[in-house]
Amino acid sequence: MEKILVTYASKMGSTKEIAGVVGRVLRESGLDLDVRDVRHVGLIDDYDAVVLGTAVYAGRWRPEARQFVRAHRAELIARPVFLFESGWVGPAPRDRRPTAGGRRHAATVGASAPRVFGGRLDPALATGFADRLLAARMPGDARDWDNVETWAVGVAAAVRRHRGTQVRGGQ
Ligand SMILES: Cc1cc2nc3c(=O)[nH]c(=O)nc-3n(C[C@H](O)[C@H](O)[C@H](O)COP(=O)(O)O)c2cc1C
Repeated sequence: MEKILVTYASKMGSTKEIAGVVGRVLRESGLDLDVRDVRHVGLIDDYDAVVLGTAVYAGRWRPEARQFVRAHRAELIARPVFLFESGWVGPAPRDRRPTAGGRRHAATVGASAPRVFGGRLDPALATGFADRLLAARMPGDARDWDNVETWAVGVAAAVRRHRGTQVRGGQ
């Protein structure tokens, strides 16, 4: 059976929750998977596909997500990879383009550009001066769960399509 890795880089927990919903949808569609903090992922050889989600801070991916892509580039190129970023809060921006770094990382592993989801800022969960300041100024939760679920359904379909090509290719 296909095994999927859903991994996330999250500082204040919001991206972790998005990864949890993605994992639930994939599981409900019959796929076997692990949902793991990217800092706790070892070898990825046993996974047939990888979903990586990261929070965006100051226009960049979390460092552990960048490190993951650098460390596993060869293995990631060899399997389907699905990326998402989570960031903005407040009203949805008109331009929901992924970060330049995210597009670059996607290209290095042969993945589509990251899907961009809204994020959350909660003063109660923020640690450190800058995070607390920003969270106090613009608290909010812009995560659209329907959007996340729809994306995850598409990921499940793509994983199955890939499996189909692998099975046919192996005959
Ligand atoms: C100091 C700081 C800088 C941020 N910079 C960005 C940014 O450049 N772009 C963006 O989309 N979101 C930015 N955000 C919003 C976070 O990405 C958002 O709160 C996200 O949901 C946090 O995810 P996490 O809870 O998984 O850490 C920033 C948040 C903080 C606290």
